Amino acid sequence: MRLLSLEVTNYRNISKAQLEPGRELTVICGNNGQGKTNLLEAIWLLTGGKSFRGGKDAELVRRGETFAVLDAVTLRAWQEDQERDDPSHVRITVGTPDSQRPGRYASVNGTPPKRAAGLAGSFPAVVFDPGHLSLVKGAPEGRRKFLDAALCQLYPGYLATYRRYVRVLQQKNALLRHSANGVERPYAEKCAMLEVLNAELAAQGEAIQKRRREYLALLGPLACANYQELSHGAERMGIRYAAQFEPGGLTECLKQHQSEELRAGQSLCGIHREDIELLLDDHPAKVFASQGQQRSVVLSLKMAEAAAAARITGEHPVLLLDDVLSELDESRKQYLLTRMKEKQTFVTSCDDTAFLKTDGEVYRMDGGVLSKA
Ligand SMILES: Nc1ncnc2c1ncn2[C@@H]1O[C@H](COP(=O)(O)OP(=O)(O)OP(=O)(O)O)[C@@H](O)[C@H]1O
Ligand SMILES: [Mg+2]
Repeated sequence: MRLLSLEVTNYRNISKAQLEPGRELTVICGNNGQGKTNLLEAIWLLTGGKSFRGGKDAELVRRGETFAVLDAVTLRAWQEDQERDDPSHVRITVGTPDSQRPGRYASVNGTPPKRAAGLAGSFPAVVFDPGHLSLVKGAPEGRRKFLDAALCQLYPGYLATYRRYVRVLQQKNALLRHSANGVERPYAEKCAMLEVLNAELAAQGEAIQKRRREYLALLGPLACANYQELSHGAERMGIRYAAQFEPGGLTECLKQHQSEELRAGQSLCGIHREDIELLLDDHPAKVFASQGQQRSVVLSLKMAEAAAAARITGEHPVLLLDDVLSELDESRKQYLLTRMKEKQTFVTSCDDTAFLKTDGEVYRMDGGVLSKA
């Protein structure tokens, strides 16, 4: 996937900017608070997703304005092989609640605007945001989310299966909390209902775990190889799915935990309790990884996410790496500066000097004004 050009109007602190990115690496340098992440965020919106920073759409519009507009020209990489390139013109508008069209809309090649979410899949991108560092030290939920979000993008049916699982799990937890409607049900009735809910949980849970295992089998070796190169072999990354049950074993697992679940008043078993173990030289990264090592692990995972998507869909996502170089030593920085040239990559940095060695496009962002360095 490639972004050929982007014009940004009234987006956050950027009143007007024109970006002509490099084929491979584009670097956006600038001091803190100048609008570098804002520009990456604008590129991310081409995926059709919400901002990776969270928050409301209206916050994307420059204060004092009612509309932000992004005009992009994009190209599917496979089209480069064709005789005639056929770029898409994508326009995204974000309107504040008091504008004529509040919300986030997209129009492709001049079609009438539709909800921007309809763009899903047309501009694949993977973003590294410093907030993702919690993947290493944070709770298992973040790591499951990482897996599930990737799977939702890759397999359209995954989200529906996942939602069904969550709905049944909520029903089961309500039942276990023995406070359903404030009435305690007779024990036998409770067990009969649990049996029905567990059968549904087992069906959906097995399907989810199967996808997660398959995906990790692809992602894991890619991530570990990335880490190996990034760290020049200084330490070895490992990745393991911490499963609660073997394939086909969820029904039995649920049965075994039933009395414990009834006592605890909550569901104790299933894919919502599983985790990804990240290891450095066989020790849990969660406990032992240094700052730079955490960053290296997350970066390796993110680059692997993009490579895995490329293998599955045939389209390599654009990489958006926000503030990725801080805390990395010179050799890791150097590796990234060469490695990131193999696909279209955008990198922001407060350090101007790191990129003097690259032949990528270099821009400066200064108070929302973008200029070629
Ligand atoms: N809707 C908005 N209207 C005007 N300015 C905004 C809006 N939203 C954010 N800003 C401004 O954008 C600036 C932050 O930009 P950004 O986060 O892109 O900085 P950065 O260059 O990535 O900095 P850092 O190096 O610290 O990460 C802040 O000054 C903030 O006040
Ligand atoms: Mg930033």
